[in-house]
Amino acid sequence: MDKILVLDFGGQYDMLIARRVRERGVYAEVVPYNKITTEEIVSRGYTGIIFTGGPNSVYEKGSPSFTSDILEAGIPILGICYGMQLMGYLAGGSITSAEESGEYGKVLLKVKSSPLFKDVPQESVSWMSHRDYVAKVPAGFTVTATTDKCPSAAMANEEKKLYGVQFHPEVTHTAFGGKMLENFLFEVCGCKKEWSMEGFIEASVKRYKEKCAGKRVLLALSGGVDSSVAAALMHKAVGDNLICVFVDHGLLRKGEGDLVENTFKGKFGMNLVRVNAESRFLKKLAGVVEPERKRKIIGEEFIRVFEEQGRLLGKVDFLCQGTIYPDVIESGKGDASTIKSHHNVGGLPSVIDFEEIVEPLRDLFKDEVRAVGLKLGLPADLVWRQPFPGPGLAVRIIGEITKEKADLLRDADAIFREEIKAAMKDDAPNQYFAVLTDTRSVGVMGDARSYGYVLALRAVTTDDFMTADWTRIPYEALERASSRITSEVRGLNRVVYDVTSKPPATVEWE
Ligand code: XMP
Repeated sequence: MDKILVLDFGGQYDMLIARRVRERGVYAEVVPYNKITTEEIVSRGYTGIIFTGGPNSVYEKGSPSFTSDILEAGIPILGICYGMQLMGYLAGGSITSAEESGEYGKVLLKVKSSPLFKDVPQESVSWMSHRDYVAKVPAGFTVTATTDKCPSAAMANEEKKLYGVQFHPEVTHTAFGGKMLENFLFEVCGCKKEWSMEGFIEASVKRYKEKCAGKRVLLALSGGVDSSVAAALMHKAVGDNLICVFVDHGLLRKGEGDLVENTFKGKFGMNLVRVNAESRFLKKLAGVVEPERKRKIIGEEFIRVFEEQGRLLGKVDFLCQGTIYPDVIESGKGDASTIKSHHNVGGLPSVIDFEEIVEPLRDLFKDEVRAVGLKLGLPADLVWRQPFPGPGLAVRIIGEITKEKADLLRDADAIFREEIKAAMKDDAPNQYFAVLTDTRSVGVMGDARSYGYVLALRAVTTDDFMTADWTRIPYEALERASSRITSEVRGLNRVVYDVTSKPPATVEWE
């Protein structure tokens, strides 16, 4: 299968570039520039390479670089932004810093005839973000595009199939960026469209059928997208040899535990163990108000439950985990602050007796995981499930957690989610939920004075959950949610909407 190497020089768009390539039916993987050599690139048989952007200047000491023999390896290369400057630098051109200001945002791009710009109009909008640019293109290269401020907005050495663009074709603001990427993949590299989710499912099923034949595979099912899709895929490969353990800690959302059980046990007929552990979790949490203590208690209790399950099951051959590609890339970069461990099953490997970990989704992006889930017949509610923290409602009940409070919050949260679903479609928030505050306020109900809890509604719009904006949900939806919640859920008499972005607030309240 043709595959593209996205060589990462520290830009923020490495994963986006890989996704853009995969969306076009060609497999792409991201590797940091300092984790691979030209020799390895050649031996792994990449069909083409994309150099990503990056925040540095090529002449700066210690800036990300690569050995210049990569340009002679006979593999087509597309350098983007810093990637173009690096290509220019490695090939003997000169790079300079714009004297006044650089170019940022939408810029009019004028292109000349080039395989990269096939079917791209002579003038179109492109998205720029740079101060440095290639002042003198290297020998063998020609300038193939310009902007008012940048005399070399693109360059090419067609004989060696080396292309550089100063703008970002991967972002949607570049009007013909997708076309340019397609030209690189199909006109320049001659890739075939061989990457599809059907093909992925078929190959994975075959692979795990062989690898796990006659072996027992254990999977901790959280009900989240990744572990659900991993379960459905593995089940197709090994059938009853897959054992899923689903721990219901009693802090899931309304109907969630049953949805998981009905789907995996009912619809798929899977070997699912549902551990109803509500009372033991609530007992451990009784009287605890400090958020980090709540998280810790839940994490530890999870491990205890799995320890017991592990003892009941005895030794298994494989432990299957729902790791996905962004987790793999983040860990590969070695930046501890961005590594998301699998909170829900963090310490699992140490308490389960197993031979080997298998991660069937480790090559997939989230949207691909969803596509695989749908193709395997998982219900849309599960596949499009919004992120839900491992500690569940425990971090959405401020103060002490009790069953009554959890039930109250579940009912209110379900109403809010129903109203958002009804009112918003494509523009729906990326995450939305209700939070039960620890504050009570005075109200009137009928002729009587009430003293009920204040419920907060939270909805955020975000790409990556590192930063988030509060969603401007329609007033009508807020109004319906508020009036339904206060009339249908006893014990709540006031609803407020959280209008804080992240930072300074976090998405969750605890
Ligand atoms: P914050 O609140 O940190 O949330 O802005 C960012 C995203 O992470 C989720 N989140 C968690 N997920 N265990 C998890 O598995 C946790 O303890 C946890 N805390 C926050 C949160 O729901 C949001 O999507």
